[in-house]
Amino acid sequence: MTATAITNIGTLVTNDPALGDGPLGLIHDAALVIEGDHIAYAGPSSGATAADDRIDAGARAVIPGFVDSHSHLLYAGDRTEEFNARMSGRPYTAGGIQTTVKATRTASNNTLEANLLRHIAEMRRQGTTTLETKTGYGLSIDDEARAASVAASHLDEVTYLGAHVVAPEFKDDPAGYVDLVTGPMLDACAPYARWVDVFCERGAFDGDQARAILTAGMAKGLIPRVHANQLTEGPGVQLAVELEAASADHCTHLTDADVDALAKSGGRTVATLLPGCEFSTRAVYPDARRLLDAGATVAISTDCNPGSSYTSSMPFCIAVAVREMGMTPDEALWAATAGGAAALRRNDIGRLAPGARADLAMLDAPSHVHLAYRPGVPLVTAVWERGTLVSA
Ligand code: NIG
Ligand code: FE
Repeated sequence: MTATAITNIGTLVTNDPALGDGPLGLIHDAALVIEGDHIAYAGPSSGATAADDRIDAGARAVIPGFVDSHSHLLYAGDRTEEFNARMSGRPYTAGGIQTTVKATRTASNNTLEANLLRHIAEMRRQGTTTLETKTGYGLSIDDEARAASVAASHLDEVTYLGAHVVAPEFKDDPAGYVDLVTGPMLDACAPYARWVDVFCERGAFDGDQARAILTAGMAKGLIPRVHANQLTEGPGVQLAVELEAASADHCTHLTDADVDALAKSGGRTVATLLPGCEFSTRAVYPDARRLLDAGATVAISTDCNPGSSYTSSMPFCIAVAVREMGMTPDEALWAATAGGAAALRRNDIGRLAPGARADLAMLDAPSHVHLAYRPGVPLVTAVWERGTLVSA
């Protein structure tokens, strides 16, 4: 097995407190040794083991690859007009999802796949090494199943979101649509998916419908995650915690009881915050400080989708989370890496410690703090996935 040593790392973020300082396990003047697809050594430069190849990091920072645990990349079409209208004052209502459903239904599998791959490549260049993506713009058995199948041929983390909104054909029969989503559509999609999700919100699915959808998915072996409390307060977060969902996503409008429930879950249900969404819809930001101070586990993700958040950039989300949501740069970096891994119930990624997967990014900066300090600057200079250099 070939071993590659990266030496002269200015700041190494390991996310392993046993290896370095603080919760990020920071090591200065560090080295990493990659053996095959995993990390063999992470520590001071002086202790680096022998290697076949050596890369001098030039005192740059190295961080775990970003784990983007929430995106919607199985779609076709464009919503520039809706964005323009919104920036002229029209509010975001999630009604535009139907525009994307129309375009997605008429798109070929090749188009769906090409769109997915384009976004994966875009994310990778920006340091994302693991991403989750969802169905939810097909809303028929066939269109949801082909989206799930396209996703599964490229990604491990696929989420069945037949319950994004009620399909147009079922406008007057939402109960009939829930039957479809919990019955034949679930049967067709479950083989491709690891997760089941529902948009629990006024205008989408209420608490009872959401419970029926998530428990049906769980009975098929899928693990729940929930779009919760995005536009209004509601039952989503409490339901997520009760069903031990891996994450409650958005968490923008929370009661004290919601915050308390997330904290008491002890990290079982991660609060996944999506700063790109509030940025792109001119909405009030979720209060990360309140969640962190209560003891909840927080992740940051892009929510990359053509409507509410068309950014694929984790560095951008980190900068916004720090500026607008009360997070420190350290907390935001953790949330975008280890937090995302927790939201996907993964312990092989999101950290750079011996045995972990060699998914990492090098920054053209002396530390990870620059991701927030230098917003909008493309600082990711090299990315390794499973030990292979995939972007430089
Ligand atoms: O996470 N909230 C629901 N779904 C997406 C928005 C999708 C869209 O507008 O197309 C979200 O923000
Ligand atoms: Fe979403």
